[in-house]
Amino acid sequence: MRVKQIDKTISVSLSEQDARKDLLRLQEQLRLADLAYHQKDSPILSDADYDAAKQRYADLLDNFPQLTEIATEVGKVGAPVSSGFTKITHVQRMLSLGNAFDDEDVVGFDSSIRKYLGLAATAPLAYSAEPKIDGLSLSLRYENGQLRQAATRGDGSTGENVTANARTILDIPQQITGAPDVLEVRGEVYMSHEDFTALNIRQQERGGKTFANPRNAAAGSLRQLDAEITRSRPLRFFAYSWGALSAPLGVTQMEAIKRLKTLGFQTNPLTRLCANPTEMIEHYRKIEVQRATLGYDIDGVVYKANELGLQDRLGFRSTTPRWAIAHKFPAELAWTRIETIDIQVGRTGALSPVARLAPVTVGGVVVSNATLHNEDYIAGRDSKGEEIRGGKDIRIGDWVQVYRAGDVIPKVADVDLSKRPANAVAFVFPTVCPECSSQAEREDGDSVRYCTAGMICPAQAKEKMKHFVARKAFDIEGLGAKQIEMFYGDEHLSIREPADIFTLATRDQGQFTKLKNRNGWGDQSAAKLFAAIEDKRRIDFGRMLFSLGIRHVGEAAAKDLALHFMNWENFLQGVDAARPAAVAWRNADESEEAERLTAKSEGRRAKIKDSRDVAIAACDVSLAATAAWDDLTGIDGIGASVVLSLTDAFANSEERAAILRLANELDIVPPEMPSSVSPVVGNTVVFTGSLEKMTRAEAKARAESLGAKVSGSVSKKTDILVAGPGAGSKAKKAAELGIEVLDEDGWLALINPE
Ligand code: IVH
Repeated sequence: MRVKQIDKTISVSLSEQDARKDLLRLQEQLRLADLAYHQKDSPILSDADYDAAKQRYADLLDNFPQLTEIATEVGKVGAPVSSGFTKITHVQRMLSLGNAFDDEDVVGFDSSIRKYLGLAATAPLAYSAEPKIDGLSLSLRYENGQLRQAATRGDGSTGENVTANARTILDIPQQITGAPDVLEVRGEVYMSHEDFTALNIRQQERGGKTFANPRNAAAGSLRQLDAEITRSRPLRFFAYSWGALSAPLGVTQMEAIKRLKTLGFQTNPLTRLCANPTEMIEHYRKIEVQRATLGYDIDGVVYKANELGLQDRLGFRSTTPRWAIAHKFPAELAWTRIETIDIQVGRTGALSPVARLAPVTVGGVVVSNATLHNEDYIAGRDSKGEEIRGGKDIRIGDWVQVYRAGDVIPKVADVDLSKRPANAVAFVFPTVCPECSSQAEREDGDSVRYCTAGMICPAQAKEKMKHFVARKAFDIEGLGAKQIEMFYGDEHLSIREPADIFTLATRDQGQFTKLKNRNGWGDQSAAKLFAAIEDKRRIDFGRMLFSLGIRHVGEAAAKDLALHFMNWENFLQGVDAARPAAVAWRNADESEEAERLTAKSEGRRAKIKDSRDVAIAACDVSLAATAAWDDLTGIDGIGASVVLSLTDAFANSEERAAILRLANELDIVPPEMPSSVSPVVGNTVVFTGSLEKMTRAEAKARAESLGAKVSGSVSKKTDILVAGPGAGSKAKKAAELGIEVLDEDGWLALINPE
């Protein structure tokens, strides 16, 4: 790019107004130069011109000191290129929260905890309740009272090291006294409404980036490579939780929060102790009323079981704690017009209708797209064919109510028929894929229509690839959705399936040259990309499974599968073995024989959840297939739909081959055992009879969190049978097989050695 020569002299007659203009112009020029140099690896100024610009900027400030207030930190060229933030692995994962959307969900939260712990409805069970701050979470590690490390949440396991930035935040003490030797304080970085507005005005005056909302401003300000920029942004911090600790902070949540306050942290003044769901909901309503005048954004109220001992017992599901929930505020609403309806094809082939809207502000964010879910939703029906919105359909040109709750994609809730244009016609949902023209089909009982072309459909293939490289999946630095679009159809650097990413560097020697000679790429950026790819060749098993983008196999299911099978070979074997049972299950859906077959399935009564399970037990499926099906569906959180799509994916020869080609390129790392010192890691445990000190659910979750597999039936694979009073045939079978049998106390002694 040709760059205008920079004038190195400052005219003595320059007016303040002209100086201000010049300063802002230089500021922007230097900002772009920094960006181009550091983040795009493609300088737009020669070193000499860059230095001259910087000098002139400094001279202007010397001559017009009154302009210092609009000055920003400029000029980092010449310093070594920063690779961004270093990564920090969280000693304890930073999790998210499950959501409650109404009062009923709050009551349900309390009941589920009682059920899990085996507590009567009348037993005391208190909760803390506090605002859910709409910012970004941060973990602060103090060692011997000194702030040592600050990390963002990242993907929950690994975050970014933002220590230098966190040190500039006034609410974050650099040192604390009287704290445990190791203390990880967790909380939310946020920006007040007042500071947000002032920042945006300042940014606008400087021609800098403005932010859509205080949360984006807080995130953008914290994640600055130059900590001095963070210092100039008024960030705040509320502490509400903790990670690793060398000594407990108290015996209750309220006590621990009080302790954090004593140590010098800001804690939210609206934190209350509630004795029951009625009090929790009352506090929620109070906070809701105060929301508009708090001066910072909150998006709900978080409830946490107050006793820390109970929090420990309740533990975590794969990504959320059982002991806490976020009660969200109702969604924000606005009315606007639908300009058109587009159909997007997702990675699973699902045809998703998207309303393109006349832009409208919903809760401070400009919205111009909203999901319409599926064809039934557009037609005014739910998945069971019942009317929704009083049966009103949605048409192009309609005046519709749009809402957004939290970060999720905006949705269309309602339609105003009185404003419907006279020429509006009902929307006809396509029966062919708009991207590849293949048939798009709907299965009975499914509201979603799917393109049937699989990976042949370029839209599906590309979306699947985008999912593969997404942050929660392979997360390859420098290879995002944009690059996938660029490389997918490329004749030289084609990346059409995941394995192609990993063969890129080895395919032929010319790949590197081809890449670096590309527009927008250079030696450095190409080398960086190849290095980032190599870095991800070694991948966590659960992450790899999630990355495959198999329908119904989300992050949690992938993690559960990985923990159950521990390695790729076992997993593949398990899925393949279950295939005949999955086919029987699906076919049996329409089978009229289910009743007749019941008689044959006596031995499997315990397993039978519906007629389709009967069919598996009774039809021609081999014992091995039935066992593999039971093994898979027996995993907590894995239902028939997950197993069906898994077995489908691996039975499709093209998809299977592509997955195997990928697996071949990778070093798949078994999931880390939750506790390597646990005496039951890798053991298969069966519980039978009644347990008196905990519920079945708690016993199972605890065993799994210690790395054991929990199974429903005794076999040669069983290592330990925990038998409570009333144990029957399982205890007998275990004795026959010579399996170790423990009573509940024996089991507790084994897993909680003093
Ligand atoms: S407790 C184990 N308390 O909400 C869970 N989180 O949606 C620990 N958040 O990642 C979180 N205010 O960033 C908790 N008072 C509060 C919160 C809060 C905001 C955020 C936090 C978390 C997210 C979950």
